[in-house]
Amino acid sequence: MKFDTRVVRAGMTPDPTTGAVVPPIYQTATYVLEEVGRDKGFDYTRSTNPTRQTMEEQLAAIEGGKHAVAFSSGMASVDSCLKLLKSGDHVVCSDDVYGGVSRLFNTVLTNYGLSFTYVDSSNPDKVREAIQPTTKMLWVETPTNPLLKVTDLAAMSEIAKKHDLIFGVDSTFATPVFLRPLEYGADIAMHSTTKYLSGHNQLIGGVVITNRQDIFDHMKYVQKTIGAVPSPFDCWLTMLGVKTLHLRMKRHASNAQVVAEFLEAHPKVERVSYPGLASHPQHEIAKAQMSGFSGMISFELVGGIAAGKTVMNNVKLCALAESLGAVETMITHPATMTHVDVPREERCARGLTDGLVRISVGIEDPDDIVADLAAALERA
Ligand SMILES: Cc1ncc(COP(=O)(O)O)c(C=O)c1O
Repeated sequence: MKFDTRVVRAGMTPDPTTGAVVPPIYQTATYVLEEVGRDKGFDYTRSTNPTRQTMEEQLAAIEGGKHAVAFSSGMASVDSCLKLLKSGDHVVCSDDVYGGVSRLFNTVLTNYGLSFTYVDSSNPDKVREAIQPTTKMLWVETPTNPLLKVTDLAAMSEIAKKHDLIFGVDSTFATPVFLRPLEYGADIAMHSTTKYLSGHNQLIGGVVITNRQDIFDHMKYVQKTIGAVPSPFDCWLTMLGVKTLHLRMKRHASNAQVVAEFLEAHPKVERVSYPGLASHPQHEIAKAQMSGFSGMISFELVGGIAAGKTVMNNVKLCALAESLGAVETMITHPATMTHVDVPREERCARGLTDGLVRISVGIEDPDDIVADLAAALERA
């Protein structure tokens, strides 16, 4: 099946008892055994559930991977990937990861003996320099949240192979429509399914996809042992959301290109970061590695934080909200919202300034999004 067909049909077989086109929601905690030691493939929903299994097959198929393991949030997915490591291991990580990820690494996982070095992974030399004898994992986010830095995955894969590192990619911003990290040699493609995959601001979820049997076995074990599993209903909603992913992503990307070009030309905007702009420092890598630039933009206003707040407080169509990747356009202030727990000094050192504004461009009419931003910018 071609990609767009896989998005709609992969993993979906009509319900064998009723013929229902949409797989049913198996909202059950447990399953009756036929006799001691003989079940129908399911024994307890923390371990496995038919609705979750259908969604996992669908997500593995669209990512081009053999196996998917679903979790109750993107954060639970990241945490579960780190459970492939043990005390004493070191991780090299992109410096501009989502603030919740660096919070997990710095304030929780360091207590269990893991250590982390953050580098600008858009520069492979910086990654090479950061590797230590105890380094066991390379964790990359591309494009990053919120600065939209892009990392060359083929270069990362070469480094990971040379040093025998587990190579994980948080591909939440790109989605399998535009980028499939496993094709570039990643061991793990991870998503917060809260975002584009479910796509409608209706749930929290996460997934880990891999071709490696050893990683899959470990992730399944972690999934059932720790139990951070999504509900059957959330799996069902995700499954329905995914069926329109290819259409939504094309519109997110074309709208974002319009909005990014509008912002770049606006006299009150100091700089815009969007991988689809020729001015983006990794535009060429993004063009070569992704088939579209997705829907996330960040920008800085002339007038810094005060001007940024005026814009965010005066938009009417754009929703001032945490999160991203849904059909509605959302505007966020990373310094006080998504990245509030990253110490100010560290934030500023990596370019995440107080005046930075992030937009998740939705799939409304682009003229309305631009008009809303233009009116708010007028007041800045
Ligand atoms: C890139 C990225 N990864 C992971 C997460 C965490 O996902 P969740 O909020 O589903 O736990 C987020 C959340 O914003 C994110 O932006």
